[in-house]
Amino acid sequence: MITITTNARMLEHNTFGIDVQAELFGEYENIEGLRMILSNPLVEHRKHDIWNIGQGSNILFSGDFKGIILHGRIKGIKVVSEDDSSVLVKIGAGEIWDDIVEWAVNHEYYGAENLSAIPGEVGAAVVQNIGAYGSEFGNLVETVEVLNTETLQIEHISQDKCHYGYRESIFKHQPFKQRYVVTGVEIRLSKIESFNLEYGNIKSALEGKVIDLQNVRKAIVEIRTNKLPDWKKLGNAGSFFKNPIISQEQFEQIKALYPNVPSYKVDGETPMVKVPAGWLIENSGLKGFQHGGAQVYEKQCLVLINTGNAEAKDIVELSDIVIRTVKEKFNIEISPEVNIL
Ligand code: EPU
Repeated sequence: MITITTNARMLEHNTFGIDVQAELFGEYENIEGLRMILSNPLVEHRKHDIWNIGQGSNILFSGDFKGIILHGRIKGIKVVSEDDSSVLVKIGAGEIWDDIVEWAVNHEYYGAENLSAIPGEVGAAVVQNIGAYGSEFGNLVETVEVLNTETLQIEHISQDKCHYGYRESIFKHQPFKQRYVVTGVEIRLSKIESFNLEYGNIKSALEGKVIDLQNVRKAIVEIRTNKLPDWKKLGNAGSFFKNPIISQEQFEQIKALYPNVPSYKVDGETPMVKVPAGWLIENSGLKGFQHGGAQVYEKQCLVLINTGNAEAKDIVELSDIVIRTVKEKFNIEISPEVNIL
């Protein structure tokens, strides 16, 4: 089954809850359906204006979208091979990522648990390289299955070709952004117990509890629900900005004024420092700052929220205000993590 709708309302398709229209909206349930949409005469001549979305949890519509929004509902989760130490799992791009984490935890497969409770679908996790609490999705990936929008053939991209980095992959950039629609992914999970509990307050959240998959997942869900707003109640797209990576020298200047500034070392030829954008925004005096219907979230300044009736422009303008204010205060240019359409 496929559907192609003209002037489609996007309210249900973005977690910011922005009420805009897309010129064309196509939904498909399998690869054949995706091929049918892409060869439909309405779509075919505009292949350059295609944007494939998942749950819409990492996008901001800046206004009505002139082009084609695609949304896949390709489901499926299947162990394709296993040995004593690991399983290789094939997942459809339209699965909800957190359902996969729950499945993995219930089957005692290790590696996905730190990525608990991140909104969005698997296809978006592939593109965005979602990450939290010291883990990144890209590290689990073996191959990504994509449909080439020019040839309509399926291709398999191995992990080393995806160029995964901090919230980065080839799928976010041209020419691949237009060329590939992610239809599935194979990830490897471990059968051997191992945890990554170094980040932030995970250890203290687990104090006095047995350290097992279920409890680690519970702790992370709890930390996230305390800090991050539920998009079903308050429209948002998680972290709006990326954490900037700055030179050691610039970091020392900030540290001289703010001895408690949090930071993470970034290895590389020249060692750099990652500073939480949330901290920079809060210390620029913007905690709770409101502009139209958009607001800097009180409990985590990295998140911009729709207080109820924000228009796209309120959020875009608030983002500009935040970027400008942080630049003035710290001379650091932060940039959006959210994809602005
Ligand atoms: N902080 C502040 N004020 C704030 C926000 C944060 O002072 O308003 C400080 C915190 O106290 C802490 C540090 O900044 O010392 C880091 O905060 P947190 O642990 O909340 O993590 P983050 O760096 O702000 C990143 C990811 C999140 C992910 C968490 C946990 C990015 C852009 N964001 O946030 O990802 O959940 O780490 O791993 O890297 C997302 O991508 O949507 C997302 C929520």
